[in-house]
Amino acid sequence: MHEDLEKVLFTHDQIHRRIDELADEISRDYQGRELVLVTVLKGAVFFMTHLAESLRIPVRLDFLGIASFSPGRALPGVVRISKDLDQDIQGMDVMVIEDIVDTGLTLRYLLNVLSGRQPNSLVVCTFLDKSTRRLVEIPVRYRGFEIPDRFVVGFGLDYDQRYRTLPCVGILKSQVYQGR
Ligand code: IMP
Repeated sequence: MHEDLEKVLFTHDQIHRRIDELADEISRDYQGRELVLVTVLKGAVFFMTHLAESLRIPVRLDFLGIASFSPGRALPGVVRISKDLDQDIQGMDVMVIEDIVDTGLTLRYLLNVLSGRQPNSLVVCTFLDKSTRRLVEIPVRYRGFEIPDRFVVGFGLDYDQRYRTLPCVGILKSQVYQGR
């Protein structure tokens, strides 16, 4: 275990097994259709890569970058698109791939923007869900794991751009961010 982690919540093997289950479910639900996976940069890239390689339906990949207006997330949910999609999603079946849904404010903004482009369907697939923290209702169609209200890192999730490449998901020791 990495020395900055207090506890490992999900090991690499547990993560991969769960993503395979999700991929089976999604492949069944979208049989005979093509899906556009809209991945929110950067955290969701790890999750998307493993999910996409396990899917048994044709997919197109696209990416959205979002930037917070307020440094340090002082105003959660006040975000803007810093990198837009390359493709037109009108009439397409679209799945937004997120690393974690916390308050839901970021996704509410993104879903509003994307639904205005008139896709045929629009659903959310998130790797982690901190649903006890939700401030706005978000229709999460697929979720990897429900997690407690703790700050986690690994498998794409960062603190200050670090820890993304950890193969597991773990709770970050509070000393790491309190000591700054
Ligand atoms: P929301 O708008 O509150 O749902 O925030 C979602 C974003 O907050 C995620 O995409 C992450 O960037 C970040 N976030 C929330 N909780 C965590 C966490 O425990 N670890 C790392 N990032 C987190």
